[in-house]
Amino acid sequence: MTHTRPSQQPAVHKEILAYYARGKEDARLREGGAPAGRLEFWRTQDVLRRLLPAAPARVLDVGGGSGVHAEWLAADGHEVHLVDPVPLHVAQASRLPGVTAFIGDARDLSAEDAAYDVVLMLGPLYHLPERGDRVRALAEARRVVKPGGLVIAATINRYAQLHDLLREERYFTPLNRERTDAVLDDGRHPYHEEGFFTVAHFAQPEEVPGEFADAGLTVDRQYGVEGVAWLMNGVENWLDDPERRAAVLGATRRIESEPALLGASGHLLTAGRRAA
Ligand SMILES: C[S@@+](CC[C@H](N)C(=O)[O-])C[C@H]1O[C@@H](n2cnc3c(N)ncnc32)[C@H](O)[C@@H]1O
Repeated sequence: MTHTRPSQQPAVHKEILAYYARGKEDARLREGGAPAGRLEFWRTQDVLRRLLPAAPARVLDVGGGSGVHAEWLAADGHEVHLVDPVPLHVAQASRLPGVTAFIGDARDLSAEDAAYDVVLMLGPLYHLPERGDRVRALAEARRVVKPGGLVIAATINRYAQLHDLLREERYFTPLNRERTDAVLDDGRHPYHEEGFFTVAHFAQPEEVPGEFADAGLTVDRQYGVEGVAWLMNGVENWLDDPERRAAVLGATRRIESEPALLGASGHLLTAGRRAA
């Protein structure tokens, strides 16, 4: 892999880089991390394991963060390369067995054409507020994946912050309510100080297939990651109990592509392909 192509893109927002430079991302999906973080982790893993080709596949994990998913993908026998704009994340991911990590931007990948069996984009799309940038990132995924190869992208759903703040009872504070309501119409989340997510775009599920199509990708299916379980009181305790965890994961899997529920989930996965 080379890193010689000059970037034509605006830089990643400095607020996004500063947000992740705090070093909190690695713990987010692990034990004791963000509320429902483990549910997001296990459900993402469940969907990816069903969709990925048999190991060893060449996987490019774009916006892979500190490598929380790259780690188990490599342990499953895949050849995993990770790209992320945050130096701390790249340093953390580089230490994981079987993972190679590089600084980079989803809109301007340094990988060769058709170099990967699978491209994961579990982060960049919701940090690119402009539609043109999201399509550009998906077009880069299309370029570097092989014909017939798989592209899986994560988005944060439009009402995730509203649901999250209601669940945490933070919505009842006027300032929190005002900021949360301001995102509902167009999904544009601006920078706010500590306590809120950074610059982001919260998407409606139906937006994503159009962006895939404009990037030259077809869509196979969409998956709600957390379903409605993430909004329920006690879900963290349920996940500690192996039997209840299996029941929650099984129930969420059963309704994962139910159109009426896709937008209720916090995160959404859209899986598509480059034509063969
Ligand atoms: C919430 S983290 C998700 C990390 C991991 N993929 C996961 O699913 O847990 C979002 C990641 O997207 C990365 N990111 C933001 N803008 C990006 C861009 N333009 N290109 C590539 N990655 C980007 C961030 O640095 C961060 O690591």
